[in-house]
Amino acid sequence: MAEQDCLLPVYDRLPVSFERAEGCYLYDEDDNRYLDGLAGIAVNLLGYRHPRLVDRLRRSATDVHHVSNLFQIKEQEELARRLSEIGFESAAFFCNSGAEANEAAIKFARRYSGRFGSGGKKIISFENSFHGRTLGALSATGQKKYQKGFSPLVEGFVYTPYNDLAALEEEMDDQICAVIMEPVQGEGGVLPASAEFFAGVRRLCNKYEALLILDEVQTGMARTGEYFCYQNYDLEPDLVTLAKGLGGGYPIGALLVERSLREGLQAGEHASTFGGNPFVCRMALTVLDVIEQEQLLASARARGEQLQTGLQELAQKYKFVDEPRGVGLMRALPLADQIEASELMRSALDAGLVVGVAGENALRFVPPLIITEQEVEELLSILDKVLQEN
Ligand SMILES: Cc1ncc(COP(=O)(O)O)c(C=O)c1O
Repeated sequence: MAEQDCLLPVYDRLPVSFERAEGCYLYDEDDNRYLDGLAGIAVNLLGYRHPRLVDRLRRSATDVHHVSNLFQIKEQEELARRLSEIGFESAAFFCNSGAEANEAAIKFARRYSGRFGSGGKKIISFENSFHGRTLGALSATGQKKYQKGFSPLVEGFVYTPYNDLAALEEEMDDQICAVIMEPVQGEGGVLPASAEFFAGVRRLCNKYEALLILDEVQTGMARTGEYFCYQNYDLEPDLVTLAKGLGGGYPIGALLVERSLREGLQAGEHASTFGGNPFVCRMALTVLDVIEQEQLLASARARGEQLQTGLQELAQKYKFVDEPRGVGLMRALPLADQIEASELMRSALDAGLVVGVAGENALRFVPPLIITEQEVEELLSILDKVLQEN
C-alpha cells in the first residue's frame, strides 16, 4: 500500500514535496528552486524563515505554550488590543481557522439578534462566495459545487448576486440578522466589491438592523495594502473574520466584533480549546510587528501595482489572457476557455513558479508580502515563458 493511501483523498495533490524554504523560495527533494507566488494560499505573509519569526519561535520553546481559555492569557489580550488598534474598536474571539472564525460570526449574529435584535435568524450571503468547509461556513458559501452531497445544510441562508444591490435589497427584511461578504471574493476568482455596492450593503444593513460580517480571512492582514480590506473603502463593519495570514503560517483565526456589541455572546456560549493559545498569539504578534517595521502595507501596494502592470502587459501580449484583476498582493489572471488554469499552474510549477487557481478559470497570485521588486519581475518573466509555451 502506498503511504498516500493512508490519507483521505480529499486533495488533488501536485507531485512535489517541498523540503526547505527561505524568503520567497521553496526547494524540493532534488533541491530545485521555486519562486512562491502562493504563500500557502495567502498564509505565509513573511515568507519562510523570517528571522523575527524564527527568533520568536526559538524563545517560545520554553515559554508556556498552551493553557486553557479558563485562565487569563496575556498574549491573547495584547493581540486583541493590537487588532483593535489597527482596525475598528473591537472585541476578539480567537479560534484556529477561517471556517471556525465564520462559524463564530454566524453564531454571534444569531445570538445577538435573539438577545438584542428582531430575533430574525436569516443570513444573506453572496453567490460565488467562499466561507469555509465546516457545515455552517459551507451553508454560508454561495457555491453549489462545494455543498453538493452534504445536505441537510444549516438552515436560514439566502444567496444573492455579488455586486448587485437591487437584488440584495429585495431580500432584506426584519428576519435578516446579518449579511456576510468577502470584500474581494477570493476562491470565487479574486473579484472585488465595487465601492457603490460595498457602501450600499452597509447602508442596507443599517436600515434593516442587520449585522455586516466581513469575511477577511483571505483579504485581511495587509494583503490588500491596508490591514483590513474594508479600509480601502469608506465604511466600518460590525464583525470581521480573520485567519490565513494572521499567524504567518501558524494556525490562528479570529472573530472581531464591534466592541459595543460584545455582549451578544456570553460566557459558556462559544469556545475553542486551542483558540488563541499563548504560543500562537506570540507568533501573530510578531507578524504584526514585522508588518509595521518592514512597512509591508506600502510594499503590498507597490508590489501589487507592479504585479498588476506586468500582468496587464501579458494580457496584451497573449490573446488567451484576459484583463487581470484584484487589489494589492491579491491578483488573478483570467484565461480564455481553451486554456485550463490548472494545467498552466502545473506548467508554471515545472518552470519553477508556484501559483494557484481561482474562480472559473484564472491563475491566482497571493505571494508573501515580503516579495521584492526583483522577485516580482522574476515571477512575471517565468509566467511569460510559461504562457509562450502554451
Ligand atoms: C474568504 C475565506 N473564508 C474562509 C475560508 C476558510 O478558511 P479555512 O480553510 O482556514 O477554514 C477561506 C479559505 O480559503 C477563505 O478564502
